[in-house]
Amino acid sequence: MKKNIVVLISGRGSNLKSIINATKETGYPANISLVISDNSKAQGLNIAKDNSIDNIIIEKSSFDSKKKFEDDLVEKITQHNPSLICLAGFMIILSKDFVNKFKGKIINIHPSLLPKHKGLNTHEKAINSGDKYGGCTVHHVNDRMDDGEIIAQQKVIITSDDTADTLKKKVLELEHKLYPKVIRELLS
Ligand code: GAR
Repeated sequence: MKKNIVVLISGRGSNLKSIINATKETGYPANISLVISDNSKAQGLNIAKDNSIDNIIIEKSSFDSKKKFEDDLVEKITQHNPSLICLAGFMIILSKDFVNKFKGKIINIHPSLLPKHKGLNTHEKAINSGDKYGGCTVHHVNDRMDDGEIIAQQKVIITSDDTADTLKKKVLELEHKLYPKVIRELLS
């Protein structure tokens, strides 16, 4: 019996796509029952539609407060009773109340070897810091940005000719392998 997961996105959706592809593999323990985007223009919404996955837009700007926005998120997510809520390029920091409602069930992928380089422009930061390795991290989510207990990391060597763009490409390839693998391990 496959377990439901809900995926939250804000943009391109390439990690969403990698999870969708994994769910089509024999024996994969998860099924994406809902994709939520906080951005009506997110390309990832088309990926959900192309794969006939339920998808909804919940934009923060449509609500008077972050609390009301999160209340709506909670309501829509709860209807699917997910075993995991996977943030895949979802660019909103969730409140403590929200995180506590789904204790231990919210995970995120971030394109750096956390705790190094939280936030944006992670590849530029890694190169400018003279790091030997770049990489990505899947971690539990708390109410702080790119924080929470680390579940798994994958690293790649930064070569002298790497730019932020080439490193981003290399790390994204790793992300697309790591995120589906972690979901499989957590739900198996
Ligand atoms: C990915 O690189 C993901 O790791 C990053 O946003 C990108 C989304 O791409 N997430 C964060 O930076 C979270 N702090 P995608 O929409 O193609 O999956």
